[in-house]
Amino acid sequence: MLEKTVEYIKQKIGNFKPQIGIVLGSGLGELADEYCQISINYAEIPGFEVSTVKGHKGRLVFAEINGKDVVMMQGRFHYYEGHSIQKVVYPIKVFKKLGVETVILTNAAGGVNASFNPSDLMIITDHINFMGTNPLIGENDDSLGTRFPDMSEVYSVDYVELVKKVGREVGVDLQEGVYMALTGPSYETPAEVQMARILGADAVGMSTVPEATVAVWAGMKVIGISCICNSAAGVSTVGLSHEEVIKAANTAKDKFKTLVKEVIKKL
Ligand code: HPA
Repeated sequence: MLEKTVEYIKQKIGNFKPQIGIVLGSGLGELADEYCQISINYAEIPGFEVSTVKGHKGRLVFAEINGKDVVMMQGRFHYYEGHSIQKVVYPIKVFKKLGVETVILTNAAGGVNASFNPSDLMIITDHINFMGTNPLIGENDDSLGTRFPDMSEVYSVDYVELVKKVGREVGVDLQEGVYMALTGPSYETPAEVQMARILGADAVGMSTVPEATVAVWAGMKVIGISCICNSAAGVSTVGLSHEEVIKAANTAKDKFKTLVKEVIKKL
């Protein structure tokens, strides 16, 4: 199936050779609107699922940004939508087959660290897989990666430093920390957020970890950026809603785009 998917995409994109793949999280899809040269709806791509989340468009977008060929996912597949974990990470395998070397994973997350504020951007330094599953379960595809991949540096230290440096240069303040993924779709309880904090998480969310795991397995470098959209449950007294998350992502989107464009230039 993977070969069929890649053939389909290649026939649509001609000479385009993306070295960078970006997954745009909730409310952060605007980069793809701004730079769209070729787009392919997920619905027409063999092997792809259809994204069902509000605020996610559901298409692959190809564009040259700051001199680099980039493929963007405008909307991703989440485990909580009912997709198998293998379907969630399928596009990352497609990225690899298209020649992508670096994957930038972005998401909307809840702030566990009490010093974070809504609309802050956080560079992910490491993650905790609390989803109760792993996308590499099942027969291993040795052509892509090894059975027991090393996860000691999922988020390339060099690139964490690069993003921080770029942030300073373009005047975008960055938080940094550990991202914990839970399945969702319910937000966490205050006790779960307390657990996340005790376990070492600075932010919680419902994505990114499966994609990062597969990207590293397949030999790609990973950059992770969270938009802290709200204080996670119990950190502040206000309740949570998806609307609030989208609103905060909207506030952050300009600095997010400034940062990502400049990072692309330097990769
Ligand atoms: N928890 C989990 N996922 C999220 C949150 C949250 O508080 N905010 C945005 N995505």
